[in-house]
Amino acid sequence: MSLSRAIIYPVARRFFAGVNLGPALERIKEDNTFGIGATVDFLGEDVADTSEAEMAKAEYRRAIEAIEFEALDASVAIKLTHIGLDISSILAENNALEIAAVAKERGVFLWVDMESSEHTDSIIKIYRKMLSKGVPAGLALQASLKRTWDDIKALTADGARIRLVKGAYNEPPEIAVQDMGGIRARFIDMARYLLDSGASFAIGTHDLLIIDRVREMASGADRVEYQMLMGLRDSTKKKLVREGLRVVEYVPYGADWYGYGIRRLTEKKRNALYFVQGLMGR
Ligand code: FDA
Repeated sequence: MSLSRAIIYPVARRFFAGVNLGPALERIKEDNTFGIGATVDFLGEDVADTSEAEMAKAEYRRAIEAIEFEALDASVAIKLTHIGLDISSILAENNALEIAAVAKERGVFLWVDMESSEHTDSIIKIYRKMLSKGVPAGLALQASLKRTWDDIKALTADGARIRLVKGAYNEPPEIAVQDMGGIRARFIDMARYLLDSGASFAIGTHDLLIIDRVREMASGADRVEYQMLMGLRDSTKKKLVREGLRVVEYVPYGADWYGYGIRRLTEKKRNALYFVQGLMGR
């Protein structure tokens, strides 16, 4: 391990389970004892090499098989650029459908993460193929993208399960709302639409304003899943579980933890403070 990775590792560890699947399974078991479900995320994206895409596919399969074998309350999240979308959409589709077939056979739910806007059409197309094959799968949609109103309506009409998120990618103003107030308002309106449509869906956010608003609107409906990342908002997760709501922790793992860990450590003042304290050995 390089010096910078060795220094960052102990402080970033709060945000991912470990380098291998084993610690991720341990984390999921711990979550499950608190009544929290999990979505396991094998870290990686944007692979440019077919052999890396093959490796990722094999690891996603392993995670699905382990979840079934250990009877865990967990699903698996996949990124299509991790299994070759940047190389070719046919390759990503074939890999995704292979993973989906295993998930279907094992009865493990698959979440397809949404990535940058250049991939949105291909990701939706591949997700639709999964749905048409009866795979238990959901798709993340980004409230900040202007196209999302159309996508959410068309996809829910076709039985899709949506994870609504703000959107993690820097997108230009022509296609994405930029201000936080606007994004929050769209998020809440979209959540209301999903509730009114009778769909079962998830929200992926740490934004208490949104979480509280959705809780109010849902008034105890068990069709809403509250998803948050490992290492963030732990007390909120437990509080929502005590209220009888469905909470799912997103549990990342893998050798590709460095970029992910740095992003989490630097995105919020509180996390940056934790980072500095960790480096000082406090
Ligand atoms: P945001 O960063 O907007 O903050 C909102 C408010 O909460 C602010 O007031 C902030 O200060 C406060 N806050 C947030 N985190 C805090 C913390 N740790 N401590 C204290 N205060 C905090 N994106 C994507 O493009 N595709 C995807 O597939 C997914 N998938 C996904 C799954 C899950 C489970 C989650 C939680 C998120 C995603 N995302 C995603 C990421 C998402 O789009 C978004 O970028 C992040 O969740 C950040 O937005 P938030 O609403 O969580 O908080």
